[in-house]
Amino acid sequence: MNLQLDGRNFLVTAASRGLGFGVAKALVEEDANVIICGRNEKSLQDATASLGDKCQYFVSDVSHPADVTALLDFTKAQTSKLDGLFVNAGGPNPGTFDEISDDDWIKGFNLTVMSAIRLTREAIPLLKKSDAASILYSTSISVKQPLDNLLLSNSLRPVVIGMMRTLSEEIGPKGIRLNAVCPGYIHTERVEQLMAAAKAKGAPADKEIVQRIPLGRMGTTDEFGNVCTFLLSPLASYIHGALLLVDGGLFKGMM
Ligand SMILES: NC(=O)c1ccc[n+]([C@@H]2O[C@H](COP(=O)([O-])OP(=O)(O)OC[C@H]3O[C@@H](n4cnc5c(N)ncnc54)[C@H](OP(=O)(O)O)[C@@H]3O)[C@@H](O)[C@H]2O)c1
Repeated sequence: MNLQLDGRNFLVTAASRGLGFGVAKALVEEDANVIICGRNEKSLQDATASLGDKCQYFVSDVSHPADVTALLDFTKAQTSKLDGLFVNAGGPNPGTFDEISDDDWIKGFNLTVMSAIRLTREAIPLLKKSDAASILYSTSISVKQPLDNLLLSNSLRPVVIGMMRTLSEEIGPKGIRLNAVCPGYIHTERVEQLMAAAKAKGAPADKEIVQRIPLGRMGTTDEFGNVCTFLLSPLASYIHGALLLVDGGLFKGMM
């Protein structure tokens, strides 16, 4: 299958490692040009070196409005059009209701919700110039079922889904497809950290979590990147306003 991504231009945020890196890698393997961002320059340099000359980086903390503007200014300077935007950020702090302060809520809102709003707003003019534009929001299985000890993720990520579904009506007719992916457990540093934090609180260890996944293992960032790359590609041209779980069957609901 030819994903028709050769020479197309993508912005993948929060991508020096983990899920974002998996998406950038899969896009580059399809000969797309990719700009990645993150906060730590050394990590971005390492990621870009491993992805090759189709990948460029820009240091940007997507929870800060000025950084989002600077990232899009950089993108505009590199390319006259964007074919796809993968919206991703670091995870909000774990914790239960008693443990989450007002400051955590506000920081979590800026990180998870406002980053998605601002990236979308600033990228739309460049996306409108593409003949196959697409935005893919990376959320979590937490939009379908709450996860233990992740109050902020459970509460804030559904806002992004609400925006995506609304925008699919508002800007779909202007030629921009929007979808969301909902990862379950994809093996990354963040998942390792959450497991360690949960274990310290006496929660199930990673083996017990894996036993609940029908496929019997966590996903890999390569597997996640391949799914996202398909959804961002012109071959997914009739998939719009959809949520796709990438969870090895972990979600138990019918719908
Ligand atoms: N892995 C999973 O199974 C899973 C499941 C559900 C949801 N998620 C969510 O998916 C997102 C990515 O998770 P991950 O597992 O890939 O995490 P990860 O392995 O920790 O990687 C996070 C990436 O995001 C960058 N980043 C973090 N905060 C940023 C910010 N404010 N602005 C720009 N870049 C930022 C990091 O680079 P710097 O630190 O240098 O900025 C790094 O490149 C998180 O929101 C996570 O909660 C993950």
